[in-house]
Amino acid sequence: SIDISTLTKQTGFTTLDYGFVNTSATRSSITYIDGDKGILRYRGYPIDQIAENSTYLETAWLLIYGELPTPTELAEFDDRIRHHTLLHEDLKSFFDALPHDAHPMSVLSAGISALSTYYQDSLDPRNPEHVEISTIRLLAKLPVMAAYAHKKSLGQAFLYPDNSLSFIDNFLRLNFGTMAEPYVINPVLSKALERLLILHEDHEQNASTSTVRLVGSTEANMFASISAGINALYGPLHGGANEAVLTMLAQIRDSGEGVEKFVERVKNKEAGVRLMGFGHRVYKNYDPRAKLVKEAADEVLAALGVQDDLLDIAKELEAIALADEYFISRRLYPNVDFYTGVIYKAMGFPTRMFTVLFAIGRLPGWIAHWREMQTDPATKIGRPQQLYLGSPEREFPAR
Ligand code: ACO
Repeated sequence: SIDISTLTKQTGFTTLDYGFVNTSATRSSITYIDGDKGILRYRGYPIDQIAENSTYLETAWLLIYGELPTPTELAEFDDRIRHHTLLHEDLKSFFDALPHDAHPMSVLSAGISALSTYYQDSLDPRNPEHVEISTIRLLAKLPVMAAYAHKKSLGQAFLYPDNSLSFIDNFLRLNFGTMAEPYVINPVLSKALERLLILHEDHEQNASTSTVRLVGSTEANMFASISAGINALYGPLHGGANEAVLTMLAQIRDSGEGVEKFVERVKNKEAGVRLMGFGHRVYKNYDPRAKLVKEAADEVLAALGVQDDLLDIAKELEAIALADEYFISRRLYPNVDFYTGVIYKAMGFPTRMFTVLFAIGRLPGWIAHWREMQTDPATKIGRPQQLYLGSPEREFPAR
């Protein structure tokens, strides 16, 4: 038998596949997606069952280790993570060095790179103990760093984590608690955030996960790879879409142009205007996560007693788009991020934190893929081919 890379070398045969629409870069046992049928499963379990019954940390274990944890395994995992939430005190000067209006995604990616400098003796991708402790540190510290980025933007003092609280409540307290007032846990908010994070935990070879894998394929450490993944997630065509949706909804409201007029501009492709939160590379029927998020949006807003005109605009937009030939013929449906922003806003997060919340959600998936890649004997450094269209050889002018 002859493998494809040997064949490529021998024949010069290569494929040109912009956006990797039809190219598998790896094998994987983590997540299954059937885009036509709207199916998403983590390690074989349907996403709706996981979202209904599991927690963020249990799902993280499932993705990373392949099976559901026993109660003891989960308790130990949770305990270890709680004991690693503190950031090194010197990192305060890292936050001090940044402007207060720094985008929290930039703070987060730089912060995760900076974090690795405190653990230089435990970053070897080939050492299983280093991989294990890096996994725990990232899961424990990335949310704290995210909350500090939020606090910094408000000009408020950072709180130390309270490790008697659950993972989710600890995170909410770090964001919404203050030195002056104790944070009061709101179970509606905690449950909704847990569910949204679970829905984001993995999505096989999306742009940020592929980035994590590509960087990791060079045997760069887990922190460096995840920091790169955060930057890939930042863009509005990927994780940044949740922020972009809210900005779009607010613009429609504030301009007074009306939903129908806006949809006309999208259809006319006016200056690249897109209906943010619509369309997906893989889901061409519906995004199973979007259905769950839409249900959650109604529940959360009702439970919090929030009336949001942006939710009304989102619903009107969805109804118009789903009945319109432009969107039907291109198989464009709401994706997971069409309604998440409305929920995050109701919870009290500023728009610029939305993609950071996505990053916390996606972190277990990034880690699971990075680890799967490191242990797959077939892994090679990622190195795509190109079709060269430039000048043939020519003489450099004599001087
Ligand atoms: N609004 C209007 N038209 C769209 C949209 C949209 N949101 N998405 C795709 N189209 C149109 C394109 O203009 C194109 O039309 P054409 O055939 O007339 O040229 C056609 O649909 C196909 O679009 P592509 O860009 O080729 O689809 P692709 O699979 O490459 O892109 C993507 C997928 C990036 C998600 C795209 O649908 C998009 O930009 N959506 C808005 C951003 C967004 O919500 N991103 C979040 C994705 S989910 C996530 O990361 C969690």
